[in-house]
Amino acid sequence: MSRSPFPYFRGRRLRTGNNLRRMVAENHLRKDDFIAPLFVMEGENSKTEIPSMPDYYRFTLDLLLKEAEEIAELGIPSVLLFAKVPDEKKDNEGTEALNPDGLMQQAVRAIKKEIPELVVMTDVALDPYSSFGHDGIVKEGQIINDESAGLLAKMAVSHAEAGADFVAPSDMMDGRILLMREALEEMGYPNTGIMAYSAKYASSYYGPFRDALDSAPGFGDKKTYQMDPSNAIEAIKEAVSDESEGADIVMVKPGLPYLDIVRAVKEAVGVPVSVYNVSGEYSMIKAAAEKGWLDEEQAMMEALIAFKRAGADLIATYFAKDAARLL
Ligand code: PBG
Repeated sequence: MSRSPFPYFRGRRLRTGNNLRRMVAENHLRKDDFIAPLFVMEGENSKTEIPSMPDYYRFTLDLLLKEAEEIAELGIPSVLLFAKVPDEKKDNEGTEALNPDGLMQQAVRAIKKEIPELVVMTDVALDPYSSFGHDGIVKEGQIINDESAGLLAKMAVSHAEAGADFVAPSDMMDGRILLMREALEEMGYPNTGIMAYSAKYASSYYGPFRDALDSAPGFGDKKTYQMDPSNAIEAIKEAVSDESEGADIVMVKPGLPYLDIVRAVKEAVGVPVSVYNVSGEYSMIKAAAEKGWLDEEQAMMEALIAFKRAGADLIATYFAKDAARLL
């Protein structure tokens, strides 16, 4: 008895022109969705292009401020800061990470002073500060959890003290969100938010980022703390657990190879979900475009709308400025 819906249903009717396509678009990108990552380095009046990330730079603090202003003027509401630490300041105790006058703390203070409305988020992890290039403290070849989590909580407080609106722990130690939330409350920063990297996978797509910060692991890999790409149910467990420990936003990372995880996490939590469109995803599009194999703008916009379709509320992306200009 079933009758083919044709010709009553013709999907093409809704695709006949640009205006109509816009009217029936199910998802929309907005500048408000973007978080722009920023790399800061020591020195003055200089910027260095990251070799594996064409058109993306590390800035000294003076030039970083100009970059942050440009980002704010484009209508992007938020930046995510990463500091490049010189080798001689790296150790296994995160000493420089807690320095109230460290580069990260200075950068936060400077940006909040010049552009108070910009939502400043800071990366909280030890790898850029670690002589071993790991996200936690190393003992006898192991990345030890609880001591690392305690140190990361202090680091979060140090960023809050400098004026960070959000701390963004990217380390994947167990229990660190709870310790951070408690430490922030105790130390008088109840309004500092936590954007937890909850489902962060041990991914090869971080390669260009490790170039940017000179933060590649000195031995082994990160598989004892970052997640196995085979797993999805575990990602939900991690996100729900971070939410219950006090995360205000939970993140899935990387982005494009993990869109199923974005959707699953979105359906499992009651806080906004962010996705990190990581360095390798950026570089792949850039490299293919350089070769003339892809249209850069179209590939970029298609990737970004895919995050919205998957359910992401926020997107950390190196394309933030380029995309904002097109919106
Ligand atoms: C470090 C950190 C990494 C990224 C953000 N924070 C790399 C890693 O875990 O090794 C990756 C970001 C990117 O690739 O764009 N804690």
